[in-house]
Amino acid sequence: MAPVTSLSDSVNQQLSSAISATLPEASADPLLRRSDRADFQANGILALAKKAKANPRELATQVVAKVESGDVIKDIEVSGPGFLNVTITDRAITETLAARYADTARLGVPQAERPGTTVIDYAQPNVAKEMHVGHLRSAVIGDAVVQILEFTGESVVRRHHIGDWGTQFGMLIQYLDEHPHELDHKDTQVSGEEAMSNLDRLYKTARKLFDSDEEFKTRARRRVVDLQAGDPKTLAIWQKFVDESKIYFFSVFEKLDMEIRDPDIVGESGYNDMLAETCRLLEESGVAVRSEGALCVFFDDIKGPDGNKVPLIVQKSDGGYGYAATDLSAIRDRVFNLKANTLLYVVDARQSLHFKMVFETARRAGWLNDDVKAIQLAFGTVLGKDGKPFKTREGETVKLVDLLDEAVDRATTVVREKAEKVGLTEAEIVENGQYVGVGAVKYADLSTSAVRDYKFDLDQMVSLNGDTSVYLQYAYARIQSILRKAGDARPTAHPDLALAPAERALGLHLDQFAATVQEVAEAYEPHKLAAYLYQLASHLTTFYDQCQVLSADNSRELTENRLFLVDLTARTLHKGMGLLGIRTPEKL
Ligand code: ARG
Repeated sequence: MAPVTSLSDSVNQQLSSAISATLPEASADPLLRRSDRADFQANGILALAKKAKANPRELATQVVAKVESGDVIKDIEVSGPGFLNVTITDRAITETLAARYADTARLGVPQAERPGTTVIDYAQPNVAKEMHVGHLRSAVIGDAVVQILEFTGESVVRRHHIGDWGTQFGMLIQYLDEHPHELDHKDTQVSGEEAMSNLDRLYKTARKLFDSDEEFKTRARRRVVDLQAGDPKTLAIWQKFVDESKIYFFSVFEKLDMEIRDPDIVGESGYNDMLAETCRLLEESGVAVRSEGALCVFFDDIKGPDGNKVPLIVQKSDGGYGYAATDLSAIRDRVFNLKANTLLYVVDARQSLHFKMVFETARRAGWLNDDVKAIQLAFGTVLGKDGKPFKTREGETVKLVDLLDEAVDRATTVVREKAEKVGLTEAEIVENGQYVGVGAVKYADLSTSAVRDYKFDLDQMVSLNGDTSVYLQYAYARIQSILRKAGDARPTAHPDLALAPAERALGLHLDQFAATVQEVAEAYEPHKLAAYLYQLASHLTTFYDQCQVLSADNSRELTENRLFLVDLTARTLHKGMGLLGIRTPEKL
């Protein structure tokens, strides 16, 4: 399918050639924006006039004279200090949208010109630990970025860097070795919830013993050494913890309606074999130095409260490797084995200093450079209604599962209220409740810029009015209902028809979907896609107020053209929401 040239690109091209025809030496970006006063407004003449020491209004008038109005540009005029106001023909709007409509799979969104390979590190919970709201953000934002990048043609490698290694396992393994039946299951099929409660119980008892029994503590510490030495029996017990945790992780991801694939789970343990080599490379190149026995990397601009430099510790003085050594080894793997051009890390902003130091170290070592870059997509904290980090009333961190269940409960209530009118079966109510509840949680997370903290407010999230996923889902379902009622009138574009103002506004916004997706993919900013979709639904609401789709007063063509407009809107909502990981039920 040939790429669809957007209306703004056509206008841009025409204005650019008019500008170079007026001032042959100059090249200028017309700087086109959507505007309340015209379909598009170009501001670029002002800067150009300044450079050429010309009067902007006069220059603008000369440029206008060189623009040929025709198929796309209906009218162009100078306004204000030297802006150009451009009006698009109705025909160009309808024809461009028809080309997008014909491209069912991509809606005219082009593939990236030079796609590369991105390794994205997201959804990384920790073994034998409950998942909390922080893990929600990484999973939701990461999944959206994966979908968006893949849609633009990027090769995406997913890496779930789970916390599956470290000294805390000594205690767990030792305990399980001494109580071998603690993780046995009655049934062959164990639910995620059961798996987690087994792990939790085991963790608590092991911890108690560790804190109260000196001899157990000694045995547990010896286990850490065995684990690091790769003792087969110790590793086999460790594997049980990993497997049990995965059952739990997968159940949560399923609840989140998110596909996480087992081979993409490469936890901290996956880089064990590289750790010694990573340290050797850093030490030999002088990037890291020994300081009080530890292998450290120092930075001029990173200092502690006492004014002394705070190093990144790659290897501790007792020979142990930590979080940093693992991340540095993962960089080598991702750059040299997976051949990534871009490394993305969807990780809490509270780890930003860690990544700053790790990335800088990798740069000094030559593993990262101008062609291979690493970026942390840092996200903020989830806050409670009181504006403090989200906790239960008892002050504990909120379990992700509880929170999702509550969202689905509330959403189901909302769905049920309208169910009779819409004609939903009980099974559909349950399914829609899940789509609306999970969608609400995802959308709330994705609709503010990731770095900002946001308040977790379920009442607001499932509200039918305002910037919520359910508002968008209703917009979609309402269109489906109209399409079902349309009888034998089919959505068909009629470029000869004149468009009403609300149709033009909706149409011009629909045409910007492609540009929005491209921008969102380049800047890794899913919240801009959410904002686009919300505006789309708002344009649709205005359109409904002003234009009847199925009315006996409409000509056949008018009805078909309006059906075409709303159907393209529905497809755009469906595609856009899909990229955010949110479902659009057909009936709601
Ligand atoms: N497991 C870590 C946590 O729960 C996040 C891992 C982030 N990724 C990384 N490559 N360090 O905080």
